[in-house]
Amino acid sequence: MTDTSTIASPTSLAARFPAGFRWGAATASYQIEGGVHEGGRGPSIWDTFSHTPGRTAGGETGDVAVDHFHRWRDDVALMADLGLQSYRFSIAWPRIQPTGSGAVNQEGLDFYSRLVDGLLEKGIRPVPTLYHWDLPQPLEDAGGWPQRETALRFADYAGVVAAHLGDRIPLWLTLNEPWCSAYLGYAAGVHAPGRTEPAAAMAAVHHLNLAHGLGSQAIRAVAGDGAGIGAALNFHVPRPADPADPRDLDAVRTVDALANRAFLQPMMEGTYPEDLVRDVAAVTDFGFVRDGDLDALATPLTTLGVNYYSSCIVRHYDGSRPRSTADGHGDGASPWVGADHVEFPPTAPPHTAMGWNVDPEGFTELLVGLSRRYPDLPLLITENGSAFADEVDAGGRVHDPERTDYLVRHLGAVADALDAGADVRGYLVWSLLDNFEWAWGYDRRFGIVRVDYDTQQRTVKDSGHLYAAVIEAHRKGG
Ligand code: NOJ
Repeated sequence: MTDTSTIASPTSLAARFPAGFRWGAATASYQIEGGVHEGGRGPSIWDTFSHTPGRTAGGETGDVAVDHFHRWRDDVALMADLGLQSYRFSIAWPRIQPTGSGAVNQEGLDFYSRLVDGLLEKGIRPVPTLYHWDLPQPLEDAGGWPQRETALRFADYAGVVAAHLGDRIPLWLTLNEPWCSAYLGYAAGVHAPGRTEPAAAMAAVHHLNLAHGLGSQAIRAVAGDGAGIGAALNFHVPRPADPADPRDLDAVRTVDALANRAFLQPMMEGTYPEDLVRDVAAVTDFGFVRDGDLDALATPLTTLGVNYYSSCIVRHYDGSRPRSTADGHGDGASPWVGADHVEFPPTAPPHTAMGWNVDPEGFTELLVGLSRRYPDLPLLITENGSAFADEVDAGGRVHDPERTDYLVRHLGAVADALDAGADVRGYLVWSLLDNFEWAWGYDRRFGIVRVDYDTQQRTVKDSGHLYAAVIEAHRKGG
């Protein structure tokens, strides 16, 4: 038994959520699976990137990760022990189409089919993401997301997967955090494929949006018009350094356009924000948008996936002194295309091991704001969580008070949003397991379950016990 009495009462927390609210956890293929040369899988851009010297902390790769490819049955059993009701995982495109197009690898489909069946047997709802950043390398060799062709290939892939798993999947997520794919991958170059080409990044924004739209159509063509479809977007919550300074308010507008509205508005309304087009005019004329694209990509979402970790402060920058880059993108190329007049001052503590501030109020504001803007669109928290160092003590326990506190405060923030009328249907914690945190490697631990990377042993952390207690209390009360 975990003593959670000093942190929060699981019962009082659970009582704040309506009956039917769903609890779960999230992961992604390259971060947990390993087995990169098994099951007929082809190479992805993250294999290439992580094997390129200097790209990831300590040269770490996802070659083995937390060996979920072999241990998935045990991991599903662990989810059931925790009482999870939904599990968000991602399907590795290079396991399904090793070269990114054409021939389908049955072994890859079988792997995910078994996983889905294993989840359903335990009463856990599968929530697959079709693209969580592991683009088949041959598609990058042909130009990657800045090329329109990649969106067309994604639609084929989505159709293949939906045809095989469709009858068992209540909700598909097309893309995970296209902000990262486009801007971190093609402008800042800190994520795969590591390119620093701002114009290409803007083309990638559009082709990712198009992939979402065409992919959604392909899913509905095989799984029926009633198929549930969403996308998981990482919303930025920018706050002005000086709310009375119009230049800082304009900096907020810029960041909101690039990070949030560049994806949400085309998906929901079939238009790109005019201010975004203006902001990046020196970089691109949006000539990559073809007739019919906007109709195609504004396919109705049934659920909006919300990933939230922290907020940021933004300020107008005039170039007279070194730029403040507390958003973590200080060195080298910036992900903020066309935002030369914006800087990111430091945020107030506390911060997680990622250096991100802890701002549960920002979460509430985000959810309430989204629900006000799109009142008919249900929201699902597709990621929320925190990295902090932890260790197994002599008694075999993992005490992670900071992660537990973060979890409790952010669950409270979701409850506050519900109280204020936001239509939030469920919460998926990031992450079930410690895993490969991309360029940061393995020592940024986000799991509610600790993984010993030498033995692959899993140990539920205090935060995981607390979460399980909330789920159980909600089940009893609901
Ligand atoms: C966003 C990503 O979707 C996920 O892959 C990552 O590990 C977490 N957030 C934490 O950075």
